[in-house]
Amino acid sequence: MQRKILVTSALPYANGSIHLGHLVEYIQTDIWVRFQKMRGHECHYICADDAHGTPIMLRAQSEGITPETLIANTQQEHQADFADFNIHFDNFHSTHSKENQALANQIYLSNKAAGHITTRTISQAYDPEKEMFLPDRFIRGECPKCHAHDQYGDNCEACGATYDPTDLINPVSAVSGATPITKDSEHHFFKLGDFENDLKKWTRAGHLQSEVSHKLDEWFESGLRDWDISRDAPYFGFEIPDAPNKFFYVWLDAPIGYLASFKNYCDRTGVSFDEYMKADSTTEMVHFIGKDIIYFHALFWPAMLQGAGFRLPNSIFAHGFLTVDGKKMSKSRGTFIKARTYLDHLNPEYLRYYYAAKLGSGIDDIDLNLEDFQSRINSDLVGKVVNIASRCAGYINKKFEGQLSASLADAELFNEFTAQADTIAEKMEKREFGHAMRDIMALADKANQYIDEMKPWALAKEEGKEQQVHDIYSMGINLFRVLISYLKPVLPHTVAQAETFLNIAPLTWDDISTPLLNHTITKFKPLMTRIETDKLDAILEASKETMVTKDLAKESNNDIEPIADEISFDDFAKIDLRIAKIVTAEHVEGAKKLLKLTLDIGNGEKQVFAGIKSAYNPEDLTGKLTVMVANLAPRKMRFGLSEGMVLAAGPGGKDLFILNPDEGAQPGMRVK
Ligand code: MSP
Ligand code: ZN
Repeated sequence: MQRKILVTSALPYANGSIHLGHLVEYIQTDIWVRFQKMRGHECHYICADDAHGTPIMLRAQSEGITPETLIANTQQEHQADFADFNIHFDNFHSTHSKENQALANQIYLSNKAAGHITTRTISQAYDPEKEMFLPDRFIRGECPKCHAHDQYGDNCEACGATYDPTDLINPVSAVSGATPITKDSEHHFFKLGDFENDLKKWTRAGHLQSEVSHKLDEWFESGLRDWDISRDAPYFGFEIPDAPNKFFYVWLDAPIGYLASFKNYCDRTGVSFDEYMKADSTTEMVHFIGKDIIYFHALFWPAMLQGAGFRLPNSIFAHGFLTVDGKKMSKSRGTFIKARTYLDHLNPEYLRYYYAAKLGSGIDDIDLNLEDFQSRINSDLVGKVVNIASRCAGYINKKFEGQLSASLADAELFNEFTAQADTIAEKMEKREFGHAMRDIMALADKANQYIDEMKPWALAKEEGKEQQVHDIYSMGINLFRVLISYLKPVLPHTVAQAETFLNIAPLTWDDISTPLLNHTITKFKPLMTRIETDKLDAILEASKETMVTKDLAKESNNDIEPIADEISFDDFAKIDLRIAKIVTAEHVEGAKKLLKLTLDIGNGEKQVFAGIKSAYNPEDLTGKLTVMVANLAPRKMRFGLSEGMVLAAGPGGKDLFILNPDEGAQPGMRVK
């Protein structure tokens, strides 16, 4: 039976670039959607930018543009990133849209009419200079527990304590630097508690992963509190219909943005919005989200929908977070990788396959291990799958003008391949992509084994074996065809090229068991190349660079990086600073920012990799003096061992200050 499915991914915030962490979600969803479409279901993949809120308002101000311009620019960038990763949305809209305003009003007013909205006055931190209420994130001060400086208003990054912004010692507004005062204001609340019984039932009725419903049980135990859904002006968002100068909190209209984008799509295409949205709809609605936003999607969202008489989601599929080389993405390690930076160097389908190979139906974090990534792509995709076609195509093209044999050389083996269509489909349906990829690669091994055992290249040298060789290679092509059918949701672009090579109509799941016989293929062109290490190095280097540029941008806004935690004099005295003479300075192959320096520090030479290439030609550095941290533990970098660090001050870019040789300074002198 044909299913009708509305699928969404969480709406990315409109004030930042898409990075590899986000892509876990959009790639996972895109694969699932492509799989459903390939199975013949009606499936609509809907998304939008999440355009409202204080951070977006302030970001636009600091850039001297309107929020509308900021979100329009970001939307363009996001859409280009997604398209280039072959993530195909049927509609990509914005929460700052007329459809969203209308739906937000409708859902709010229906809930209000049903008695689920209440108001009360609360007091909050207020910036008297900027004349605005301050979200917790925009208040900084000393942690009441461990006394670390410059901590956020709601939690301390040093000791992990959580607290109220009013507990912060010496709080300042991160917006203006003023000391916040406390001010009263009337807020609107959504009475989540009204839905407690229904939510308890709903969250246990199979709409959520089991680990998620367990998590929710804890939340039920601590009680469902009213949810503050209003914010005072100035705020970039929608004004609440019956409350001048009060705006919907961004998280109220964000999920409604799913429906708004779908509405926009329905109006454009003639799909029936009502059929999908009415309370008793037989269509499906599923949301893919990260585990950090479960509360909003599994509690507030179904409650809001129910209160307004809309249908509820069938499923909320949460996924874990991305780590790179086992650690949280980090700007200083260069592992905070933007989608665009990756695209500048590598084929997007590599990442799609790697994520697919790593993803399951649970909420565990997934790790992008760069070495493993490289070897998996090279061995699985290039070495196993693409290899089959390249081994078989030449002979068929040369000797038989591209014509495949009239029958299968090994029908049993072919059936073994196609017999897995159902189990692989089941795994894809359940989002067990990793298991599905393993099954597919086991088949790819079998296909290569078959060719190895049949040794067509040896037979080809014998008299009268032409037909047999032709049959074996044609068999190989047919096995390749089954494999790429299974991989099509994961590798849409590569498989499209393979379809051209095979000279066939777009593959569907139903076609899988029909072999290509007496059919003419075209010339084979390499579908994929190996990942070379220098590409990965270049991505890491370029990601470090993004950070430098960003810090510069910050400085020009007078938004100076906060001073790091205080250290004792003893800590400082441990640092052995020496005058060092630059003996040689060389380019490092594949590194965008690094120079390799050999430094004379009086009692021997040290090798240091320094990120100062943007400022100097190596030739100009030879003979110059700089200051070096001489006792820093050596660090193994991708390009070699770095035995210290040179200190260079300045705004970065062109002007880093390095000492000129001068009478007093001698290599090895201690700097105090
Ligand atoms: N705007 C909200 C979502 C509103 S949905 C009605 C938001 N935006 S986000 O840009 O921060 O994140 C978008 C999605 O990407 C979220 O589902 C989030 O969990 C996911 N990810 C963001 N960083 C991630 C990783 N490092 N790893 C995996 N997923 C991550 O939240
Ligand atoms: Zn603390």
